[in-house]
Amino acid sequence: MTSTTGEACFRVAPGGRIAGELTVPGDKSISHRALMLGALAEGDTEISGFLAGEDCLSTLRALAALGVGIERPERSSVRVHGVGMEGLRGASAPLDMGNAGTAMRLFMGLLAPQPFDSQLIGDASLMRRPMERVAAPLRQMGARIETLEGRPPVRIRGGASLAGIEFPMPVASAQVKSAVLLAGLRARGRTRVIEPAPSRDHTERMLASFAVRLTREGSSVALEGGQRLRATSVRVPGDFSSAAFFIVAGCLAAEQGLLLRNVGVNPTRTGLLEMLRSMGADIRLHRHASDTPDAEPTADIEVHKSQLRGIRVPESLVALSIDEFPIFFVAAALAEGETLVRGAQELRVKESDRLAAMAEGLSRLGVENRLLEDGLWIRGGTGLEGGCIESRGDHRIAMAFAIAALAARAPIEIRDVANVATSFPGFLELARAAGLGVEAT
Ligand code: S3P
Repeated sequence: MTSTTGEACFRVAPGGRIAGELTVPGDKSISHRALMLGALAEGDTEISGFLAGEDCLSTLRALAALGVGIERPERSSVRVHGVGMEGLRGASAPLDMGNAGTAMRLFMGLLAPQPFDSQLIGDASLMRRPMERVAAPLRQMGARIETLEGRPPVRIRGGASLAGIEFPMPVASAQVKSAVLLAGLRARGRTRVIEPAPSRDHTERMLASFAVRLTREGSSVALEGGQRLRATSVRVPGDFSSAAFFIVAGCLAAEQGLLLRNVGVNPTRTGLLEMLRSMGADIRLHRHASDTPDAEPTADIEVHKSQLRGIRVPESLVALSIDEFPIFFVAAALAEGETLVRGAQELRVKESDRLAAMAEGLSRLGVENRLLEDGLWIRGGTGLEGGCIESRGDHRIAMAFAIAALAARAPIEIRDVANVATSFPGFLELARAAGLGVEAT
């Protein structure tokens, strides 16, 4: 449904209780990677629990345009007919990555060593995002890549011969690390990436499950070029970043508890749990047994309503909870006392400037806060007014403010929410089933 201006909006009634058992859709990061590695593998890769969100569908369509056969027997089951390391064919038109930063950056690494030219474009948000962080190391490897003043469109000239590099990453970015490793698969010699702080390690785990040999030592990961990928089956767990909205909802309003089933709890993703627990949240993990050390760990997550207290967030947790800050700031606004986040300047270059979007939205709801260059200070515990929020077209800003209504004194309206479908198709229905009074207007 859309408003009279043609823009999709959420209207959320104040208050309410959260309860029940929920299963969130599949992990976005893992779904992108399963498609890409499945495409490069020899044989057929079966993916279950695939996230049929717009971002991953952009990856799926791009691979199809590069000549990869992909079937979807069901919405969340995908069969990728791998073409092998030399099997991709040039696309006849620019590859459109939509809103998906992960897709664009990982494709840069995947396409840089190919014999054909490629061009990558995206929606208005993606066309503003920085791409030199990936283009620069790929050029060091010998790739011929151009950006437009650091941003898309990204033009990749085919036929470059790549050599492995040793790359100390300036930012802790799983996208940069993954792009360099993907390029390294077709480079001469060894490619080694050194991280300034741990970032999500889905690429490393999944490469290992596709039979690629990697060396992981301390903060570095290395692989030899020329390796072949062997098709496998990938079970995608529920997306922790989607579960995060309900984890915070549970902290605010699950008097009888809320259970989130089969959520990915890779420790490089779950910084939010540590942050919330140190604020006083009652969150219990019921872990599932995993088959191999490289399998993605999963758990059922049980959350109970808790009185939260503000904290100073350790900078070491920032990269481990990078996508959860919009909903974390909502938790901070409802916690007693002050919360401070620093060292989070990366939030300024996500789907929107998430520091500015959250500061503005919280101010509209009457929450005292101070926007810092690299973070946000919030004084919580005074409750939330109702009001109208600009999501800036950012899915996570939209969902965070929808959850905030649980503790508001009047309705909250959130504008420009269509992009919720990029990461969390069915959010509205699931949120309603859990007890949130949200409707599309
Ligand atoms: C992602 C990595 C993160 C994250 C993004 C998904 C990935 O970005 O914010 O939503 O799948 O690799 P950075 O690695 O650039 O921090």
